[in-house]
Amino acid sequence: MEEKNIILTGDRPTGRLHLGHYVGSLNRRVQLQNSGKYDEIYILIADDQALTDNADNPRKIRDNIVNVVLDYLSVGIDPAKTTICVQSGLPALHALTFYYMNLVTTARLSRNPTVKSEIQMRGFAEEGLPTGFFIYPVSQAADITAFNANVVPVGEDQLPMLEQAREIVEKFNRIYGETLVLPTAMIPENEMQRRLPGVDGKAKMSKSLGNCIYLSDDSKTIKKQVNGKMYTDPTHLQISDPGHTEGNVVFTYLDALCNDDLFAEYLPEYANLEEMKEHYRRGGLGDGTCKKFLINVLEETLSPIRANRAKWEADIDSVYDIIKTGTQKAEETTNETLAKVRKAMKINYFDDRSIVNEWNELLKQARQ
Ligand code: TRP
Repeated sequence: MEEKNIILTGDRPTGRLHLGHYVGSLNRRVQLQNSGKYDEIYILIADDQALTDNADNPRKIRDNIVNVVLDYLSVGIDPAKTTICVQSGLPALHALTFYYMNLVTTARLSRNPTVKSEIQMRGFAEEGLPTGFFIYPVSQAADITAFNANVVPVGEDQLPMLEQAREIVEKFNRIYGETLVLPTAMIPENEMQRRLPGVDGKAKMSKSLGNCIYLSDDSKTIKKQVNGKMYTDPTHLQISDPGHTEGNVVFTYLDALCNDDLFAEYLPEYANLEEMKEHYRRGGLGDGTCKKFLINVLEETLSPIRANRAKWEADIDSVYDIIKTGTQKAEETTNETLAKVRKAMKINYFDDRSIVNEWNELLKQARQ
């Protein structure tokens, strides 16, 4: 098999993307896109996967496709370099899922730790578990293999999906012959970037907790989230008190976002974050000053994104064309993989008439 470097990533279109997505994954996708090291890059808007736990609310998925694409375009995903495509427009993925399901036991699916905790979170343990949700790791293996992706940049919570995809690939290739590319997960190197906490210090940004900073938030909303909700150090009561920077959300965000140039511009008392942290720990640096600096850092990060978004929002026709063209290109790629898979399984009956000879031969032997 020819060795190409192909990236696939994906998101469920269930809401606008936030700063946690940016720091943990979007920013890196843009860097990978611009590195010039990859032959093909795809981003899949996994609307079918999103339906596995939103069957009663297709409207939510339909509405958020545009939000997610706008978020991609505004952070710098360039449709000339990255193909953005929509899962429901790629029927080959469904067919692959159906074949791969035979290579995975229900016992194996039940052990997937990410799916296990999602089942708890969604209350499916009591209400009943939709079969489609239970098997979505198989459909994700179809996504990955259909694009021949060898590199899949994901967060840590997706490692069990990659493990299952690899098992499916190995089993398929063992039974039907070397056909599918074995994918590898690429997870963020930087500990801080693996998971940005919510502004309230809870482990995850989530819409229902109201602790997100969205990429599309305006300056006023950002100020409100930081000044009104951001968790600092509860033992740091007076400015003169020594403070803790560990577990202090203001510093966690600064760790993830700031650089020395931003100090020169907005807080020249310090050369870098280390100096600022030392002062905070010693005592004498107030939370107000820290938050004000963070707001400037957030503005620096988010205002160009916001400006890009406004441009794209004014031209939704082009946004539509981008994902339509992307989906058409992806359809070709994924159909090719499906054809290869059917051929390897020898179920490609209608590619040619060779099976007529086979059947004639079989019947002749039976008559003898
Ligand atoms: N399950 C992924 C998530 O929730 C989204 C996804 C769907 C995906 N298909 C994919 C990620 C393929 C990587 C590759 O984030």
